[in-house]
Amino acid sequence: MENKKRIMSGMRPTGKLHLGHYLGVIKNWVNLQDEYECYFSIADWHALTTKYNQTQDMKQNVQDVLLDWLCSGIDPEKSTIYLQSLVPQTASLHIYLSMITPQNWVERDPTLKDLAKIMNQERENMSNLPYGLFGYPVLMTADILTFNAHLVPVGIDQVAHVELSRDIVRRFNNIYGVEYFIEPQPKLTKVPLLKGLDGNKMGKSFNNDIKISDTAEITQKKIMSGITDRNRIRKDDKGNPDNCEVIFDYWKIFGTEEEVNEICECCKCATIGCADCKRKLAAKINEQMAPLREKRQELENNEKLVKEILYEGSKKAQIKAQEVLDGAVEVIKMYK
Ligand code: TRP
Ligand code: SF4
Repeated sequence: MENKKRIMSGMRPTGKLHLGHYLGVIKNWVNLQDEYECYFSIADWHALTTKYNQTQDMKQNVQDVLLDWLCSGIDPEKSTIYLQSLVPQTASLHIYLSMITPQNWVERDPTLKDLAKIMNQERENMSNLPYGLFGYPVLMTADILTFNAHLVPVGIDQVAHVELSRDIVRRFNNIYGVEYFIEPQPKLTKVPLLKGLDGNKMGKSFNNDIKISDTAEITQKKIMSGITDRNRIRKDDKGNPDNCEVIFDYWKIFGTEEEVNEICECCKCATIGCADCKRKLAAKINEQMAPLREKRQELENNEKLVKEILYEGSKKAQIKAQEVLDGAVEVIKMYK
């Protein structure tokens, strides 16, 4: 336990997670749990940076993310699963880091620029951003440094944030003259990219996703709406799987090599119709998701246990967080 490297990552609670999250992020986390000391944060303060006036769904969203993680195999016996706002040490650390971070380092952040555009209806204007949103890259640094983590498994879109964290760490260590914080490294893993059913990026706001928590019926219905080879109009038209952007792509992700080859052959000589092909695919996905969905349902019926898991995890997180914070406070030479 002691000599394992530490991993920290997080997700904003924005609602029920989809299969893109599952395949792209969560499965990867699940695989890291044995080799590393893992801290996984439901980043509710991060959600508040943009949704401060839409908090009516916050509690439900936190619970949904937690259920999705747990049913997917994030294991509270192995990893520390916590709620960001239940670990106030991160807020203390954020204050200290905010003192040493130049404003223009934050302004450079590409994700922040995008957020600013959304908040300002496409005008890139940083000056009217809420103070909290502006400081969000520093808050993310505080998340990572709360556990003095070595590695941060993130998607490519978050790498710039980890780079900023490294810059802040170097500055901190330099200013206070001790190699106190570890420079965190982004940990990228190659994962299959799951498109949305309409061929665009999968996202809940586009209404083109399949949720971990969807029923088999809903999953099937959604799959039936997926894009196929647009040139294949009638069932006896020969198809071309290479032009079947979504459904054949899904086959490659959810099917075995043998199944993929068979679908490919049958499509090319029109011995399978698209409706049948989709029904088969839906059955395949449902079969793989069934155990998770069952577990999710079980947990959902046991609200007390689920809450306890989050509180226990947050308590555990606080212990490591306090240790790291105490060290930082000492390094900064605060009165004690
Ligand atoms: N900022 C990340 C996102 O929007 C979520 C996140 C919050 C995070 N804190 C983190 C990721 C710490 C890695 C480490 O997706
Ligand atoms: Fe796509 Fe399947 Fe239709 Fe072929 S049969 S075009 S692979 S949905």
